[in-house]
Amino acid sequence: MYQFADRMGQVSASAIREIFKALADPEIISFGGGSLANESFPIEVIKEITDQALTEKGPKILQYGITEGWPALRQAYVDHIAKPKGINATVDNVIVTTGASQGIQLLADVFLNPGDVVLVESPTFLGVFSVFNKYFVKCIPVSMDEKGIIVEDLEAKIKEHNPKMLYTIPTFQNPTGRTLPVDRRQKVEELASEHNFIVLEDDPYCDLRFKGETVPNIKTFDKTGNVVLLNSFAKIISPGLRVGTVLAEPEIIQKLTVAKQGADTHTSNLSQEICAEFLNRGLLPGHLEKIRPIYEVRLNTMLNAIQKYFPEGTKYIEPEGGLFIWVELPGKPDVLELFKKAVNDYKVAFVPGIHFCKNPDDGIRHLRLNFSSSSPDQIEEGMKRLGELFSKN
Ligand SMILES: Cc1ncc(COP(=O)(O)O)c(C=O)c1O
Repeated sequence: MYQFADRMGQVSASAIREIFKALADPEIISFGGGSLANESFPIEVIKEITDQALTEKGPKILQYGITEGWPALRQAYVDHIAKPKGINATVDNVIVTTGASQGIQLLADVFLNPGDVVLVESPTFLGVFSVFNKYFVKCIPVSMDEKGIIVEDLEAKIKEHNPKMLYTIPTFQNPTGRTLPVDRRQKVEELASEHNFIVLEDDPYCDLRFKGETVPNIKTFDKTGNVVLLNSFAKIISPGLRVGTVLAEPEIIQKLTVAKQGADTHTSNLSQEICAEFLNRGLLPGHLEKIRPIYEVRLNTMLNAIQKYFPEGTKYIEPEGGLFIWVELPGKPDVLELFKKAVNDYKVAFVPGIHFCKNPDDGIRHLRLNFSSSSPDQIEEGMKRLGELFSKN
């Protein structure tokens, strides 16, 4: 018998094990993951940038790098991503991470003690539970309505629990697709300043907007340095490159650097150079213009299919961007049971809503559907099959 660390007892793998098993089955039409369209990857440009990078900077790229990040990428992030969003930053405000996932992990490393309270949206990105649980913190759910986090409930939970951190995905939230309006973003910042907690603003989907107006980041309202912004190149260039960023006060960046040194020393130099060059050549805006319509077609195909095939009384949120649709089935469905039937008998996968919730009532009749990784034909077929299954129950 192995004597695993106590922290691993806090991490429940069983709930999502089946989902990942299903995603690996090539026979299954998967609306379960968060993968990108294969057609969206700029493979030719990446080939060319890689060739140039290795020719011109080979030894430097293949050598150990700097923990804070490849200098060209830190600067390019400031110039091409932070500043255009209205965020006044320098490279001292930035650390490059191995995906936004590592940003969450490192922030947990530097801020969270056992017993601390982290407020989370309910539902939220299920990946954060496995991070936060390892730190023996209490995740307290904050209620949402169709526009996102309800600030009155947030204020009540702050007063009741004195949190160390709020984890929020304000734009095209995973899993609901909701986007928090500007007045609520301002209020979140005010509450963080007043009650002195960290707002972890996780924003990987903001550039995948298909319609509506851009909403400013919570970080743009930050007066006290309490807001920490996570961005990722996963959804806008490629998740396989594993590059993300944390933007925060230099004092926080220094602590994150110490934590990252012990985690992986630095993020891949080659991946960082690819992202830096992509930004410095001015390719990102054109690339986004190219990939958004791919996703918009898939989103619309899925929305139409819900109307066509799902049972009467099905409710859903029509997102203005991102990768997911949050669906509520009518009546009292056993969504976990439906998931098993969907995978085994109908060869279609989704994620049952309950896995995203600390408060199970918030996701008991729900499912998250990903529309980005299947072709329109697969979406049509998969949704037809799901409709058949859901209409029987
Ligand atoms: C809200 C949210 N944050 C972070 C991540 C992880 O991003 P990355 O691939 O950059 O680690 C995801 C991935 O799906 C996500 O949905």
